Amino acid sequence: MKCIEIRAYGAPEVLVPAERPMPVAGAGEVLIRVGASGVNRPDVLQRTGNYPVPPGASDLPGLEVAGVIESGDAEAMAAAGLRIGDRVCALVAGGGYAEYCVAPVPQCLPVPQGWSDVEAASLPETFFTVWSNVFDRGRLQAGETLLVQGGSSGIGVTAIQMAKAAGATVIVTAGSDEKCAECLRLGADHAINYKTADFAEAAQKLTGGKGVDVVLDMVAGDYVKREIECLAEDGRIVIIAVQGGTKADFNAGLVLRRRLTITGSTLRQRPIAFKGAIAQALKTKVWPWIEQGRIKPVIHSVFPAVEAGDGLPSGAARAHALMQSGRHVGKIVLTWN
Ligand SMILES: NC(=O)c1ccc[n+]([C@@H]2O[C@H](COP(=O)([O-])OP(=O)(O)OC[C@H]3O[C@@H](n4cnc5c(N)ncnc54)[C@H](OP(=O)(O)O)[C@@H]3O)[C@@H](O)[C@H]2O)c1
Repeated sequence: MKCIEIRAYGAPEVLVPAERPMPVAGAGEVLIRVGASGVNRPDVLQRTGNYPVPPGASDLPGLEVAGVIESGDAEAMAAAGLRIGDRVCALVAGGGYAEYCVAPVPQCLPVPQGWSDVEAASLPETFFTVWSNVFDRGRLQAGETLLVQGGSSGIGVTAIQMAKAAGATVIVTAGSDEKCAECLRLGADHAINYKTADFAEAAQKLTGGKGVDVVLDMVAGDYVKREIECLAEDGRIVIIAVQGGTKADFNAGLVLRRRLTITGSTLRQRPIAFKGAIAQALKTKVWPWIEQGRIKPVIHSVFPAVEAGDGLPSGAARAHALMQSGRHVGKIVLTWN
């Protein structure tokens, strides 16, 4: 099969087309003929050597795919109501940048009615992450206010739409007025350009001094101090990335006086059973929102995975260069013939 390998850690040009033997589905797994693969910021971190592959996972990049079930563990498939030929999208721990990819049965979800492979491949990584962090860890409730840092990211556009569907008020930050406008168009109630305004002051003002109930934080560093300052009583901060650094200096007195929670998680190395439980929650709670048209795919660009261009050796390399430029709003997806 064709795939994209990381030839050595480095710039996008290390993502090169290669040929490998097709993987084989083991116990509890299916083999998916991949139509499209989603690109995520963790893939960039893996490519630069900053995100180790979990034990047992493929060394190929790629955490989400959509396509058709080619073969698999018959018993596990029957128990999950899956059949050969079904269209699925799946969260995987690696190996997504390939024409064929193995996925654990519990991490497969049906492709929503009317969605293309490109659209479905944009779902798993951000939907599993947002559900797990905003709703499970962050316990966001209808009527509460969510602050999303990086509202125009792949994660951000999912968080906006899911939180609105759940009945929350959504405030986002983004790095330009154009990105703020895109977030508002996707349903955010308020958008703050973090380069021209202090998000903590703005969030306080927007909530009439009450503060926000949950923060989805992909920045950390010195943001944590300001997030604590703009949290409501019993507020929760959920850290999913540390783009602004790992060290935080904050007023611990506020944490106890306002009964705040600071938590976080990273999805990739969690066990299959944990991811399977998230998949079940998505199927029962979020897939109906998709069917009702309340959540839509937000695809910024699509690249044929192995096609060279722009001086780069593959579509995957071009996709990573785009992601690193920060020009995108929403998801970047690779396709396979
Ligand atoms: N913990 C987990 O399980 C998990 C899973 C998936 C992803 N993640 C993390 O979630 C983040 C988003 O992933 P993605 O794939 O959606 O990536 P992405 O589309 O490339 O988004 C990165 C985002 O970070 C924002 N950002 C950077 N610095 C910021 C700052 N100082 N203030 C506010 N926003 C800032 C950018 O905003 P602007 O472009 O507007 O500057 C951009 O929207 C990544 O850091 C990724 O590693 C974590």
